[in-house]
Amino acid sequence: MSLLNVLACELLLLFVTFSVYGAGVSGHKARYGAPKISTKQELNFLVIADWGGIPIWPYITPDEISVSQQMAAISDDIDSKFVLAFGDNFYEDGVKDVDDKRFKQTFEDVFTAPSLQIPWYIVAGNHDHRGNISGQIAYSQKSKRWNFPSEYYRLNFKVPGNGATLTVLMIDTVVLCGGSHDDVPGCDLPGPDNPQVAETQWDWIENELKNSMHSDYVIVGGHYPVWSIAEHGPTGCLVDRLRPMLLKYNVTAYFSGHDHNLQHIRESNTSLDVFVIGSANVVDPSIDHMDSVPADWVKFYYAQLGSLGGFAYVSVTSDRLQLTFASGAKNKNLYSVDLMPRLNSK
Ligand SMILES: *[C@@H]1O[C@H](CO)[C@@H](O)[C@H](O)[C@H]1NC(C)=O
Ligand SMILES: *[C@@H]1O[C@H](CO)[C@@H](O)[C@H](O)[C@H]1NC(C)=O
Ligand SMILES: *[C@@H]1O[C@H](CO)[C@@H](O)[C@H](O)[C@H]1NC(C)=O
Repeated sequence: MSLLNVLACELLLLFVTFSVYGAGVSGHKARYGAPKISTKQELNFLVIADWGGIPIWPYITPDEISVSQQMAAISDDIDSKFVLAFGDNFYEDGVKDVDDKRFKQTFEDVFTAPSLQIPWYIVAGNHDHRGNISGQIAYSQKSKRWNFPSEYYRLNFKVPGNGATLTVLMIDTVVLCGGSHDDVPGCDLPGPDNPQVAETQWDWIENELKNSMHSDYVIVGGHYPVWSIAEHGPTGCLVDRLRPMLLKYNVTAYFSGHDHNLQHIRESNTSLDVFVIGSANVVDPSIDHMDSVPADWVKFYYAQLGSLGGFAYVSVTSDRLQLTFASGAKNKNLYSVDLMPRLNSK
């Protein structure tokens, strides 16, 4: 299904459901069953991707609204400290400049809850690269919570109370692999627009992974997936060049979006974990690339139409990093998995 098809379907749904949501985006208190007791010993955060609304009125989708409401409820519940957002921040063509109204229409006016007034760490997707990335980076100076310091960057966090450490590398996979203008689902990406700029980032990634040897958890995240069974499938360029680094440096997990569903894929022979978290705006139930990934690697796949989108939240302690997929539907956890700290970190 093409994005346009999906959007057309979602628009229909929008007219059906908009009256139900109306403007009542306000704070019901959700209980997610996650015990709140030990929030002082936890570092909690939210993850979304492919969340960029639509380019015409009302600039948002029903799924984006539901996801924002459930993110707000969970964030409140678990005292989330930040949000990671992995691209396609603005459909279809990114923003024109730092003053583009889409920042308000598709971001500020949607994620309004007090519990979402926390830092949002942003990278770009292929749709953002069709517009002005400098405009998105510059918006960091105008917004209290939008943090997009450069195309790729490193984040370091400490788990409160016990000193466990988490490193996150936010990378720009469109710069690495191409496709800012011609991403054809199922086709290999054309390669980087500027190979030299891509090489600089590859070197940076490897260096930062070397420098992160002592972090208890390392997450690498970008827009394109390494593995995916859905519309776009695995990204050859990342399988070839990023995957060996993820293995070599024993990265805890790779996060992405691009395909519009929720996936957990674990390589059974290496135990590399990758997550696709791309249904914050629309849901696409494609399994076009089921044959591109060994069946026993696919631990979870969720793309139920009418499910009101999805996202993930992560809870880090000294013992484990727990990722949970949540639906945009009220109080609905879909799947949870615990990942262990790296033994080489001490
Ligand atoms: C991109 O956005 C920046 C920041 O607003 C602006 O200075 C620049 O002129 C824009 N570039 C284009 C090509 O419009
Ligand atoms: C794991 O399996 C994949 C696919 O079957 C293969 O390409 C890869 O080389 C294997 N890796 C290791 C470390 O055995
Ligand atoms: C890599 O990390 C995993 C936990 O994610 C750990 O169980 C494993 O022992 C580590 N491997 C090495 C070589 O440090």
